[in-house]
Amino acid sequence: MRRSPLVDGHGRVIGDLRLSVTDRCNFRCQYCMPAEGLPWLERAEVLSFEEIERIVRLVSSMGVRAVRLTGGEPLARREFPRLASMLAPLVDDLAVTTNGFLLEREAAALVQAGITRFNLSIDSLQRDRFFEMTRRDALDRVLRGLEVLAQFPEAHPIKINAVGMRGFTEDEVLPFAQFARTHPYEVRFIEFMPLDADHAWDMDKVLTGEEIRAAIHAVYPLEAQPREPHATARVYRFADGHGKIGFINPVSEPFCGDCDRIRLTADGKLRTCLFSVGETDLRGPLRSGATDDDLEQIIRDAVWRKELKHRVNEPGFVQPARTMSAIGG
Ligand code: 5AD
Ligand code: SF4
Repeated sequence: MRRSPLVDGHGRVIGDLRLSVTDRCNFRCQYCMPAEGLPWLERAEVLSFEEIERIVRLVSSMGVRAVRLTGGEPLARREFPRLASMLAPLVDDLAVTTNGFLLEREAAALVQAGITRFNLSIDSLQRDRFFEMTRRDALDRVLRGLEVLAQFPEAHPIKINAVGMRGFTEDEVLPFAQFARTHPYEVRFIEFMPLDADHAWDMDKVLTGEEIRAAIHAVYPLEAQPREPHATARVYRFADGHGKIGFINPVSEPFCGDCDRIRLTADGKLRTCLFSVGETDLRGPLRSGATDDDLEQIIRDAVWRKELKHRVNEPGFVQPARTMSAIGG
C-alpha cells in the first residue's frame, strides 16, 4: 500500500531513517560512552526483528527510501545479517555504520544480505592512539575487517568516519589524507558533537572541518565537489585525481535546512533530530495492537514537529540525555 509522503512542519520531506538495532557496544569511544559502559536495555525493551520490519515497511510506504542501521554497534546484535536481509527488499538503500570489530567475520554475510553502503568509524591509524580513543586495542582487527569488506565490489564506495577532536585529531589529519589517496575509501571527518556520556564536550574541543580541510589543502590541494541534496558531508576531490575526502560539519556549518532524516532508537522511540529533547514512543503502540493507520498517524504527528534546526551554538543549549550510542548515528 502506498501512503502519502512524510513531511514536517517546515516542508521537509523525510526520506531517510537511521535505525539503532542495539544500544550495546563493544567499544567505549571517548566521545560517546564512558569507560565503564552504560546500563544496557533489557532484551524485552529492544524492538524485535518483526517490530523493526513492520516500522520500516510502514515508513517505506510513506516514501522513506534509505535506512541506515546503527547502534551501539549493530553487528553485535545477534543474527544481524538476518535482520538486514529482512529489511533490504523494503528500501532502495540499506546502509550500516559499524566500528568494524566484527567485520572480518561478518562482511560476506552483510553484503549477501543486501547492505549496499558501509561506514566504518576509525579515529586513528596508529594503534596506541586508536586504543586511547576507543579504549580498545583493536586497530589491526578493524583494518583486517576493512580489507575483507573491500574485496566485495558491491560494498564500494566504503566510507571511513573519524571524529575531529581538538588536541587529538590534528596528528591524524595528514595520515588520513594519505590513506584516502592510496585506498579506494572516502575518509570523512565528523565534528565532535555534544552527545558524549561524559559531558566533556565544549566548543573548544571541536576541531572544525574547515581547519582540517585547510591543513590538508596546504599539502594536497583539494577541489570542492557539488553538494548533493540532504548530504551531511561536504566532499572534496584531491586536485591531482587521487581520491576524495569529506567533512561533516554539524557544529560549525549546520546542515539542518534540508535534513530529511528521522531516527528510531533500539527501544522504539522515534526521534526527529539527533539533539531532540523529546521523543515519541512507537513500541508501546506496536505492542498494544495499534494498526498501521494508528502508527502512521503517530509518526506523522511527531514528524510534523521536527525541529527546524539544532541549537548547539546557542546559549542555553541542553545536551540530550541519550548519548550517541543510545540514539544511533
Ligand atoms: N560526535 C561526533 N560523532 C560521534 N559519533 C559518536 N559520537 C559522536 C560525537 N559525540 C560518531 C561515531 C560513528 C557514528 C555512529 O557517530 O564515530 O562514526
Ligand atoms: Fe560504540 Fe560507536 Fe559509541 Fe564508539 S561511537 S562507543 S563504536 S557506539
